[in-house]
Amino acid sequence: MRYANQPHGGVLVNRLLSGEALTEANQKAQALPAITVDQWVLSDIDCIAVGAFSPLTGFLNEQDYRAVVETMRLADGTVWTIPVTLAVDERYANLKPGTKVRLRGEDGLDYAILTVESVYRPDKQKEALHVYRTDDEAHPGVKKLFERPPIYLGGPVDVLRRPAPQLFPEYYFTPAETREIFRQRGWRTVVGFQTRNPIHRAHEYIQKAALEVVDGLFLNPLVGQTKSDDVPAQIRMESYLVLLENYYPQDRVFLGAFPAAMRYAGPREAVFHAMVRKNYGCTHFIVGRDHAGVGDYYGTYDAQHIFSEFSKEELGIELFFFEHSFYCQKCGGMATSKTCPHDKEDHLTLSGTKVRSMLREGQTPPPEFTRPEVARVLIRGLSQKMPVSS
Ligand code: ADX
Repeated sequence: MRYANQPHGGVLVNRLLSGEALTEANQKAQALPAITVDQWVLSDIDCIAVGAFSPLTGFLNEQDYRAVVETMRLADGTVWTIPVTLAVDERYANLKPGTKVRLRGEDGLDYAILTVESVYRPDKQKEALHVYRTDDEAHPGVKKLFERPPIYLGGPVDVLRRPAPQLFPEYYFTPAETREIFRQRGWRTVVGFQTRNPIHRAHEYIQKAALEVVDGLFLNPLVGQTKSDDVPAQIRMESYLVLLENYYPQDRVFLGAFPAAMRYAGPREAVFHAMVRKNYGCTHFIVGRDHAGVGDYYGTYDAQHIFSEFSKEELGIELFFFEHSFYCQKCGGMATSKTCPHDKEDHLTLSGTKVRSMLREGQTPPPEFTRPEVARVLIRGLSQKMPVSS
């Protein structure tokens, strides 16, 4: 039976040490200089460790970094659109290539050993303009980029331990595990769905439209760092569970957390998201309206158009592009401009910001927008997190 997809670059990377290699590395690590890294970097290390970021074996060295920023490819030509980098302060500017350092979490635990391949000073302005298409610091990805220290260390990592999942540990799977699960379920085609939001009816519509043509849906919400006004992952996970339980065929959908941080890089992040889901074993990936976008920085369909800059073969995953979806009162169902002949006035569209403010005030959005079960979870979660009076 033909199953699933090749990992990006051909080999599923595994940088997680175990057995004797781990014992030895832990001993050696004691003598190495330690650099403390934040949660974001730890989530990158974790994604590298388990092969979600295959073919990356570590943080980008200077050559790969330049190639990614300028050409959306690694130096060897493999498609890679987001710089995965380790930013450190001036103290480390004189580290020599070949040096090993341990990467320590803010919890004081050692997570990985980095073998330094290159030490370089990025042109952040250029990185912002290429990767985010803006250098406006009001953009959350750009803000983060400019806040990070000025030196990048590149090189492979040997990973000593994975960060403990903050929530719902039973929904954390490695790409090797999801591949095996899809195989066991007999899914030859699997569509991946990225989200950083609670699932509303438009999401459900495009997922189910895709599910009409493929064997399985891999619902893979991002649970790493997001901007502060996004709905927290804890509440979102609860909303996914209640939605799946009530509205999805259990044997055709699989929920797994994606531990990475959100970059809000729109088009470039859409390509990155697709490559990562390919590593998890997906054969298809959904890109809808303004994928991974924020504010008005990207055109509604820029995250779809960018894929035409690559050949089908080098992407190695099929894309399902969807138009902006909405509930049409006249059609009495979900639709897009491709399927609905009615006027805008008949379409129910609510911005994410509007829905979040309704939920925080305890108001239930219309069922044509959010399933009532989901709305209940969100109202409960958000009102606890942020009292209406605050
Ligand atoms: S994202 O930042 O993770 O892309 P979100 O969770 O809102 O944000 O979107 C998940 C996926 O659903 C993306 O592919 C996005 O393009 C798509 N999407 C979101 N809302 C709609 C909509 N109303 N119509 C069509 N596609 C949508």
